[in-house]
Amino acid sequence: MSESTIESILEEKRLFQPPDQFSQTAHIKTIEQYKEVYEKARNNPEGFWAELAETELDWFQKWDKVLDWQPPFAKWFVNGKINISYNCLDRHLTTWRRNKAALIWEGEPGDSRTLTYAQLHREVCQMANVFKQLGVKKGDRVGIYMPMIPEAAIAMLACARIGAPHTVVFGGFSADALKNRLVDAEAKLVVTADGGWRKDAIVPLKEQVDKALIAGAPTVENVLVVKRTAQKIQMEPGRDHWWHELQKGVSGECPAEPMDSEDMLFILYTSGTTGKPKGVVHTTGGYNLYTHVTNKWAFDLQDTDVYWCTADVGWITGHSYIVYGPLSNGATSLMYEGAPRASNPGCLWDVVEKYGVTIFYTAPTAIRALMKMGEQHPNARNLTSLRLLGTVGEPINPEAWMWYHRIIGNSKCPIVDTWWQTETGGFMITPLPGATTTKPGSATLPFPGIIADIVDQEGEAVDGNNGGYLVVKHPWPGMMRTVYGDDDRFRRTYWEYIRPKNGEYIYFAGDGAHKDEDGYFWVMGRVDDVINMAGHRLGTMEVESALVSHPAVAEAAVVGKPDEVKGEEIVAFVTLEGEREANEALEKELKQHVVQEIGAIARPGEIRFTDDLPKTRSGKIMRRLLRSLAAGQEIAGDTSTLQDRSVLDKLRGGA
Ligand code: PRX
Repeated sequence: MSESTIESILEEKRLFQPPDQFSQTAHIKTIEQYKEVYEKARNNPEGFWAELAETELDWFQKWDKVLDWQPPFAKWFVNGKINISYNCLDRHLTTWRRNKAALIWEGEPGDSRTLTYAQLHREVCQMANVFKQLGVKKGDRVGIYMPMIPEAAIAMLACARIGAPHTVVFGGFSADALKNRLVDAEAKLVVTADGGWRKDAIVPLKEQVDKALIAGAPTVENVLVVKRTAQKIQMEPGRDHWWHELQKGVSGECPAEPMDSEDMLFILYTSGTTGKPKGVVHTTGGYNLYTHVTNKWAFDLQDTDVYWCTADVGWITGHSYIVYGPLSNGATSLMYEGAPRASNPGCLWDVVEKYGVTIFYTAPTAIRALMKMGEQHPNARNLTSLRLLGTVGEPINPEAWMWYHRIIGNSKCPIVDTWWQTETGGFMITPLPGATTTKPGSATLPFPGIIADIVDQEGEAVDGNNGGYLVVKHPWPGMMRTVYGDDDRFRRTYWEYIRPKNGEYIYFAGDGAHKDEDGYFWVMGRVDDVINMAGHRLGTMEVESALVSHPAVAEAAVVGKPDEVKGEEIVAFVTLEGEREANEALEKELKQHVVQEIGAIARPGEIRFTDDLPKTRSGKIMRRLLRSLAAGQEIAGDTSTLQDRSVLDKLRGGA
């Protein structure tokens, strides 16, 4: 298909109907069925979720009350007793799924492993028993800093099994970022590996853990190390233990602890608008139900599927849709350690072909990067097993959507563009692939049980076409419960930004959107100081704090600039201390400093040195102006509050 044909498709706003064959066997088969379910949920949300909780999950003890809503604090399935590891493992063992593949794992160097439900259960029980031996008790926090290997999922499930909340830290974060998270969560144990494979190189995870612990994470008593790469590492006697050694002779049985539905399942740190990442808290029963049902309906999970989500377990997508959602459904979830790289740009398609992947879920950034590598790679593989594609993490541009549809989906696979967040636990706005007609670039319609709207700051619905704040109006089971250790920040950040006159609490987590004439949602991106770079979420303040911690930097202002592949790129405007000279060497040093403070994912693309930053009379940096400057756009809007206009003129001159 030529560029001009694509353009005409987009101009015509072409609609993509679910293929008949797909709809016939789907869990939700028609748009009428979706509407019926949606209305049922809207009219009686508690009844809707309770019915699903009863039919889809196993409980040790039924709840007394479905929802206790003391805005903005929600409790779901009050006094219910449940264990998500039990729902992901044990209950499948008494069925034919006992010997079904639970996890299929492919390592970057080409090694592989398949774990059936029975095998996964055994390993999880063993690791849970080892945790107990290391003194981990119900309620203790465990840090997980792992490559994409089965033991990452095993460690999460082992934590869930004994009721020790996990906090998974993405392996790309630096030792400093790891330390901050371990300290905030007061982790008692860290599970890591000697290293992991990433683009033909070893990521030295254990070394980073050592640095983090030297820098000071005093609550950590033990480190459990999985052997992955077998390179030489330091093992501190008494503190560091090899998993394969402790695993020997340990029982493969460990009863799942009956947890209260509202017991904390995990903390996952995510960037916000301040320098300090927020510990997003998710609890057990509601999260289990929400990830289970959303995964089942939006991905139409069937027992014959080989389902592959390319995210890392360090992000919410990995938590909800590699581990908990698929396993709770008894699905086969594929995990891949590697990434497309110069030595093997077609590796993803090799994996699809090798395992006959049927459902493939990735991010727009990855799709755009794959587009750039060229269609010869997917074209050289047999991708006919695919029946459904998904995207997440950022708005997808229609060109990338069309490429995904044609080249990867052979023009026959529906695409589900799933809008959600770390905070929401699971999909909020998404097509249901057997029912929803899709439009490239739109996440389409809210999931049943989700009341989404577009409003102004007073909470009044706005004319959809003009756009406004994307909000959610009723609690849902997968919602975050609080910011770890900071209820007040939770209330302020998410529930008090939009202030309706009637005092109602409405959830808002930072996105702008508009709605079209069919009621379809089009998410435009963040409207707060959060950058979405290559699908990774970073707070501008977080990067600014990293920059000003360098002795040469006096002030820093960080903004996002549109980027063809990554979606956004970081541009930092920096003023220097006294005598320091702005030069290329310093620019390099500052970029490296950010990598050290946060991780390679936060490396600024560009640093612009300046004598001054544009500020309001009250001293607030006017980021809006810097964003326009970084993007090379004309400065639009009001500049009358600017304290010193010449600052802007100088910046413009230098830009
Ligand atoms: O801006 C939205 C964008 O990603 C943000 C959430 O980031 P995070 O918590 O890291 O979770 C990413 C994976 C769920 C949102 O506030 N976002 C996520 N999905 C989409 C999206 N933007 C547009 N379309 C999406 N499908």
